[in-house]
Amino acid sequence: MNNDMSELSEYIHGSSPEEQHRLSLLNDILNASCLRELNLQPGENVLDLGSGLGQFTRLIARTVGSKGHVVGIERDRHQILQAKTLAESSKESKLVEFRKGDALELPLSGAEWGTFDVAHARFLLEHVPNPALVIAQMVRSVRPGGRVFVCDDDHGDFRPWPEPSGFHALWQAYVSSYEKLGNDPYVGRRLVSLLREAGLSSIRNNCVFFGGCAGNERFQAIADNLIGALEGAKDAMLSGELLDEESFAAGIEGLQQWKTDSSAALWYSACCAEGIVPN
Ligand SMILES: C[S@@+](CC[C@H](N)C(=O)[O-])C[C@H]1O[C@@H](n2cnc3c(N)ncnc32)[C@H](O)[C@@H]1O
Repeated sequence: MNNDMSELSEYIHGSSPEEQHRLSLLNDILNASCLRELNLQPGENVLDLGSGLGQFTRLIARTVGSKGHVVGIERDRHQILQAKTLAESSKESKLVEFRKGDALELPLSGAEWGTFDVAHARFLLEHVPNPALVIAQMVRSVRPGGRVFVCDDDHGDFRPWPEPSGFHALWQAYVSSYEKLGNDPYVGRRLVSLLREAGLSSIRNNCVFFGGCAGNERFQAIADNLIGALEGAKDAMLSGELLDEESFAAGIEGLQQWKTDSSAALWYSACCAEGIVPN
């Protein structure tokens, strides 16, 4: 069956080398705390939707160990290719099975549906027009008693301080570029209700800190990830007439200056939620 929504789902950041570098930075910053939150057990079978460059997927696989099995689903062939290259260069090419496919129409065999212990998706729901359809696929893929775990952005919670010059207009345009594609930049706050509407039980939520301040080891990476995300969405903002070129450049320059400010701080968290598939 061809799912009409899959054709409408558009990923704003793309898969250029610059974007792949930014995604790697994001993984360096977040993976340890996301893994703690995911609380995997040895031997679990895990499905990772929108697996990107596969760094977190491989960390999942190392954690469940050789008795577990991990499948990463990714729609963009450039991301899959790079995920495989990175896995090979770490001598981990056998660790994860990377499979090309759409999270809205999972490429699972008949025998695989309803067998995974955990279905996981990080920073995927913000890029699809109807996240409930992805959650429905996750629920179908998991065995009774298994878990669906989602982690995503809520762009309403983003507070850099002192506010970088030109930031407000740039951020507004960035958020609007999601909305223009029919995607929800505030999906993070909806995670619990999405899991509840999908019929899951024992739902819990938490935040993973995605901020930092000047002087911290990870602050430059956090600032670079932010600047990279905005630069990667430049075309979407300009072609959508959400911002002009001059304001875009002024906003980026403001962030570059903020990055060097000794009192700069970013207050931001990724939203996480999980629920259990009923027996
Ligand atoms: C922000 S990246 C996150 C990657 C990874 N989950 C991580 O946290 O490092 C989102 C990824 O989802 C992929 N993606 C977007 N829409 C998708 C869809 N409908 N089905 C499968 N993958 C999708 C993108 O190509 C991209 O690699």
